[in-house]
Amino acid sequence: MRYADQTEKVKSVRYRAGNIGDLLKHSWLIEILSFLKKQQAKSPFYYADTFSGFDEYGIGEGQAERIRRHLSRSPLFKIQKRALSRDRYLGSVSIARKVLGPAARVEVFDRNPKALDCFRGSGIGTLKIKSGYDVLNKKKFYDLIFLDPYDDFLDDHETVLAQIFRKARDSSVFLFFPFRHFAQEKGVLRIIGQSGSRYMHGSIGRGDLLLDGVYRFAVFLFPAGHMDGKAYRHLTRKLDATTSMIQGLRASG
Ligand SMILES: C[S@@+](CC[C@H](N)C(=O)[O-])C[C@H]1O[C@@H](n2cnc3c(N)ncnc32)[C@H](O)[C@@H]1O
Repeated sequence: MRYADQTEKVKSVRYRAGNIGDLLKHSWLIEILSFLKKQQAKSPFYYADTFSGFDEYGIGEGQAERIRRHLSRSPLFKIQKRALSRDRYLGSVSIARKVLGPAARVEVFDRNPKALDCFRGSGIGTLKIKSGYDVLNKKKFYDLIFLDPYDDFLDDHETVLAQIFRKARDSSVFLFFPFRHFAQEKGVLRIIGQSGSRYMHGSIGRGDLLLDGVYRFAVFLFPAGHMDGKAYRHLTRKLDATTSMIQGLRASG
């Protein structure tokens, strides 16, 4: 298929579960949650996922096969294995619950009420907010807040970033977003650099056009102010290795 024809075909699909952006963000999510959970094993873990999406999604054969073939030794595969056998792919809330276990306090929000419906009656709390970013203005402490917006994040990212810098004084904040042009990611990096905030960063270029669509993807972790230097360096190394693993997948097709 010509590149232009492929582009037309993928334009109609905004989100393909199991795409390379999902593999990057969910692999980061697993590493971050595992690490933070170990750090504070005593009290319950407070996790907020305010662009939660659904509990699980249908996954195409191409994506499932790629995960099985290239990520079979990864923590992500271990978590997704049973879902993949049903041609499903777990979303971030289901992944987090598997990593954190039943004792964790999980709170979600999504502006799509149908997405929220699938968590009702499962011990998961629903935040009373109007937009996923509003969690950043809450006084409550979270071990991790996960923000997973669409590329419209780039329309108002200065405001959101300022809220993240403030909230990261007490709570770690994990941000993932898709982008089209390198200048967009650079603009975000410039603001973060000027803020003097600590952060971990990874990104990945376009994957396979049909499997992954036309976006590039960026991940940022803003660790809570109380994370010490040793833990910060350790987690940075883990996340860098995770990014490289997914970048390798892109090269292997
Ligand atoms: C990329 S999907 C989430 C995927 C999910 N976090 C995962 O990793 O499995 C983005 C979700 O954000 C929701 N959304 C978009 N804008 C929002 C907003 N301003 N506040 C809350 N949710 C929003 C959409 O309805 C969609 O379900």
